[in-house]
Amino acid sequence: MSTAAIAARYALAQSIARQAGLQALEWFRKRDQLVIESKGLQDMVSAADKDTELYIRAQVLARFADDGFLGEEGGLDHADADYLWVIDPIDGTACFVNGMHAWCLSIAVTYQGKPVIGVVYDPNSDEMFHACAGQGAYVNQQAMRAHSASSITEGVLGVGFSHRVPVSSFVPFLDRVLSNGGMFIRNGSGALMLSYVAAGRLIGYYEPHINSWDCLAAIVLVQEAGGTVNDFLANNGLHDGNPIIAAGAQLYAPLLALIQPT
Ligand code: IPD
Ligand code: CA
Ligand code: CA
Repeated sequence: MSTAAIAARYALAQSIARQAGLQALEWFRKRDQLVIESKGLQDMVSAADKDTELYIRAQVLARFADDGFLGEEGGLDHADADYLWVIDPIDGTACFVNGMHAWCLSIAVTYQGKPVIGVVYDPNSDEMFHACAGQGAYVNQQAMRAHSASSITEGVLGVGFSHRVPVSSFVPFLDRVLSNGGMFIRNGSGALMLSYVAAGRLIGYYEPHINSWDCLAAIVLVQEAGGTVNDFLANNGLHDGNPIIAAGAQLYAPLLALIQPT
């Protein structure tokens, strides 16, 4: 693995996220003109998602033509490349199309299957969450640390849910969180809430099924901020998705116990 090759992609990921984010923000401001298509229950897409992904893909391939690319809307190219870009052009589409601010762009790069770069950009607040393996995690220029909580009572937990999994696989967990004195929030963007775990704003995050483009960038953020994340890429997680469990290092085990009680 070449340090220069990683550094070049880290810089590019941030500059693309900013440019693409500003374009998406233009779409957001004229969202009444968007045609919304349904991809499934509570799952939608518009030209803003598709155009933003095409722009990101073109920018990446203009600079690194041999890199692989996996995007939520356009799928996978060059699966066997050493470097694979895994992106969600707009995470939080339901918020985006309804005029709420909880949406972002998520760009991850893996090297030989290992996530090494994570960039999540929130254009509404102009917050760039970014991390590169071994170099720490930052929001804009400020270093991030995951929360030091060791109990669910010490802060707010982020949660996510989609109808890709049965309701019954999730509701008992919420009961246990509340019964143990915890509190939860779901803002509609898994990538943004996971970035908040890295920033120590949320004590942790759990979602029973999430896709790789939603979470891979933020996994690098949380790990570089000293937090703990489950082995998301196990069992073909890149293509099929998996549960995601992320928390400050001391809360990971207590959170796991609430998810999988013995
Ligand atoms: C969704 C959001 C949501 C999460 C879902 C994702 P989208 O992505 O991240 O918070 O709960 O699992 O599919 O559809 O807004 O890109
Ligand atoms: Ca998403
Ligand atoms: Ca999306």
